[in-house]
Amino acid sequence: SLIVPSVQELAKECNEKLPPRYERPQIEPLVVSGDLDWTVPVIDLQKLASGDESSMDSDSELGDWGFFQVVNHGVCRTLLEELRVEVENLFQLPYEEKKRKQLWQQPHNHEGFGQLFVVSEEQKLDWNDMFYITTLPRHIRQNELFDKLPHKCRETVEAYSMEMRKLALKILSHMSRALGMDVNEMEDLFTNGVQSIRMNYYPPCPEPNKTIGFTPHSDADALTILYQLNETEGLQIRKDGKWVPIKPLPDAFVVNVGDIMEIVSNGVYRSIEHRAAVNSTRERLSVATFYSCKLDCTLGPARSLVGPRNPPAFQQVPVEDYFKEFFARRLNGKSYLEFMRINVD
Ligand code: SIN
Ligand code: FE2
Repeated sequence: SLIVPSVQELAKECNEKLPPRYERPQIEPLVVSGDLDWTVPVIDLQKLASGDESSMDSDSELGDWGFFQVVNHGVCRTLLEELRVEVENLFQLPYEEKKRKQLWQQPHNHEGFGQLFVVSEEQKLDWNDMFYITTLPRHIRQNELFDKLPHKCRETVEAYSMEMRKLALKILSHMSRALGMDVNEMEDLFTNGVQSIRMNYYPPCPEPNKTIGFTPHSDADALTILYQLNETEGLQIRKDGKWVPIKPLPDAFVVNVGDIMEIVSNGVYRSIEHRAAVNSTRERLSVATFYSCKLDCTLGPARSLVGPRNPPAFQQVPVEDYFKEFFARRLNGKSYLEFMRINVD
């Protein structure tokens, strides 16, 4: 990633005009709200655990949507409240201190405050500052970065990371069962998965209709769990070709399928393109947790799901190469997943 300005700082200076580097030539409009006759499926995790299948609208619907909200997830409210406070405080640190403490991205290191997927000086940027950190497995953590976090923040992120791992494994295990995937294969892939956390801060924007908070993309991971820290909406998904907003339920997580799960399921579960919009008056904060398969394996459609009658739709690649390639690119819709697809003609 190239070094980028802080949007949080920019927002303090530009009251009327968007800086050109953030101005998009064209932004696909949102479907008008009167046209909406849908909601994303809601999963009650408590009912799911007790084997009550009415907790899930239906697995095929899940497959279609690729996005759902999870309620009764069992993650402690106090922890979520602590996370909110710590993330807000982290972004409130003065810019000079973020730089001085090297919490800001350093050349050749994409973790810390900044932006990802910036590969050229001409490229348009997102109206967003993020803080990105790899959390699991522990041996690939950048301990220097953890050490620079305020003590309470570090503790909270570590506790949250463990809760998110538990939750991701519960959901992935259910999804794999629904697919008919071999349990051992599922556990081997995901038990020691790679996890990273991305905290997002979207400041109010002087010209919100000319820019975007988060470029349209699909996630490269297996499963993403998003926690919204305040009421401000912004997340939008591409549903049947139209951009529609997600309205988070109180105390729910928004969960979405990532490219790895689309690949592993051989295309049964689909990762959905999404983006984040900004607005002129309210800031927005969110925390996305990305859960992927383990690092030392080859990524491809699950062996237990492919055969002569169900040929693999995606290539096999070492996971490390998959991630290297992903981070070396610009984000652009589902282009990276398409790059992995085996073309049949
Ligand atoms: C994303 O992670 O793609 C969007 C996050 C958000 O809604 O803030
Ligand atoms: Fe995303």
